[in-house]
Amino acid sequence: MTLLLLMGALWESPRVPAGASAPTGLAGMQASDCGSCHQEIYKEWQVSIHAHAWTDMQFQKELNKDPDVAWLCMNCHTPAADQQPERTVATGDVRNPERSVNPSYSQSWQQEGVTCMSCHWGQGGAIRGPYGDTSAPHPVQHDPGLRDSQVCMGCHQAVAQVEDTLVCAFNTGVEWQESGSDQSCQSCHMPKVERPLVPGGPVREVRQHLFLGSGIPKNSIEPGEEDYYAQLKPAIDVDLQLPERAASGTLVRGTLSLHNARADHYVPSGDPERYLLARVQVRDAQGALLTQSTARMGQRWVWWPKAERLADNRIAPDERRELPLSFAMPLGAATVSVLVEHYRMSPENAEYHALEGYPIKTEIAAFSQSIGPTR
Ligand code: HEC
Ligand code: HEC
Ligand code: HEC
Ligand code: HEC
Ligand code: HEC
Repeated sequence: MTLLLLMGALWESPRVPAGASAPTGLAGMQASDCGSCHQEIYKEWQVSIHAHAWTDMQFQKELNKDPDVAWLCMNCHTPAADQQPERTVATGDVRNPERSVNPSYSQSWQQEGVTCMSCHWGQGGAIRGPYGDTSAPHPVQHDPGLRDSQVCMGCHQAVAQVEDTLVCAFNTGVEWQESGSDQSCQSCHMPKVERPLVPGGPVREVRQHLFLGSGIPKNSIEPGEEDYYAQLKPAIDVDLQLPERAASGTLVRGTLSLHNARADHYVPSGDPERYLLARVQVRDAQGALLTQSTARMGQRWVWWPKAERLADNRIAPDERRELPLSFAMPLGAATVSVLVEHYRMSPENAEYHALEGYPIKTEIAAFSQSIGPTR
């Protein structure tokens, strides 16, 4: 079958081989082991979506829907072989890989999802690092390639129709390439900070490990995490252009503009169910709702009987999407309020998957502007 060839090596096999032992000098390979020394990086990673790639409620629901193909999901969401209870070898038939019990399976490692070693596993079991001049108590493979977007592409660029109703549609890498960006994924998603790698070590230029993206958390934001989320700057700048005054009864025209100012890929990107929702409401001086409109920016797919993309109106890098609005000016003043939100999935879908209490959206902008009557 040609489909597996299309999918590339990553889905077919884990990134850290089964039975691998921890690099010399280390007690273990779990993030919690690294965290005993790399404390700040560990704290940041714990907040990140990567650390939730296994425990994510939505992921668990979807994973259990079709257990035959779960091994594929695991190779991206828990990419070390020993994070997986079964050892699998691709055979060309996506529903029937060679399967055997994994005697070195670690459940606590599985919980860590996209763990440190997903990106730091290097040749001969050394730890891939970007510097080459450190004195680490563990072997290091100096790899300047760790600063390249390629590190992220293996999981974030995956487009394939595996079966009629099973597709992978993450195109962030190609979107980024086509934008002609001069920045790597890391330069936006892992901002630079100056600090030591370990307490008491020399101060270096280090990259944060929060991997903030949409900023829609996977569970409620816990105490101590607010400061991290507060660093998020959404990609979209929202601006409302309206006349200052208008005569009652005349047609008021305005524009809501959404500028993708900060992402060198589409917004939203990645999962095809994501979308932005912009809502505009016009109220009179007494607060009565005169008119309301909404615009949805995202992809539209049918999933059955064959997955197919029907439409796509996401916002391209640097694009300014102008949404016209018009309404009849009431007597007295009018207030136009704007709410723009980023959804991971629709409320209907969350209900369908029985995901009560699971955060599905975040606010990008909420403000209002008034128009006075002409005197
Ligand atoms: C999704 C991939 C990914 C994960 C997961 C990840 N890292 Fe990194 N890490 C990187 C990349 C990329 C760099 C290189 C950044 C640069 O210098 O451009 C890096 C750099 C580092 C560095 C060197 C300092 C620096 O910022 O350059 C340390 C130390 C480090 N990581 C430790 C960890 C630890 C500990 C964990 C787990 C708690 C972890 N990393 C998880 C991708 C990852
Ligand atoms: C016992 C403490 C300790 C543990 C545990 C530890 N490290 Fe380190 N690591 C260090 C020290 C010390 C350095 C070098 C600091 C310096 O010179 O600035 C370092 C350096 C690094 C570097 C940068 C290497 C380079 O030259 O580019 C990376 C990446 C890294 N560690 C990742 C990890 C990962 C991933 C784990 C867990 C599997 C881990 N470390 C576990 C202490 C530790
Ligand atoms: C081993 C696979 C893997 C690698 C490598 C990887 N990621 Fe991820 N990444 C994931 C998965 C899986 C998720 C989603 C987890 C979830 O939602 O449950 C994710 C989520 C994210 C998000 C969060 C999106 C949001 O909704 O906020 C960002 C940002 C991100 N990754 C950036 C990066 C960057 C930058 C790199 C490279 C330095 C990288 N990733 C490397 C698998 C990977
Ligand atoms: C110029 C900065 C920039 C670059 C380069 C960049 N991103 Fe992003 N990315 C962003 C911003 C800002 C967001 C937040 C979007 C929002 O407001 O929801 C984002 C969001 C994301 C998301 C979440 C999807 C969503 O709809 O929010 C993922 C996943 C992601 N980026 C991965 C990547 C990967 C992988 C690369 C490299 C191929 C990359 N990004 C390159 C700035 C960047
Ligand atoms: C090629 C690697 C890869 C494979 C295989 C993969 N995923 Fe993911 N998954 C990702 C990445 C990267 C993201 C983050 C994209 C984003 O945030 O938009 C993600 C995000 C998710 C999310 C969160 C979506 C959101 O909007 O927050 C769910 C749920 C999910 N995957 C389920 C699965 C299931 C179930 C499978 C197996 C049928 C699977 N994934 C296979 C890489 C993969």
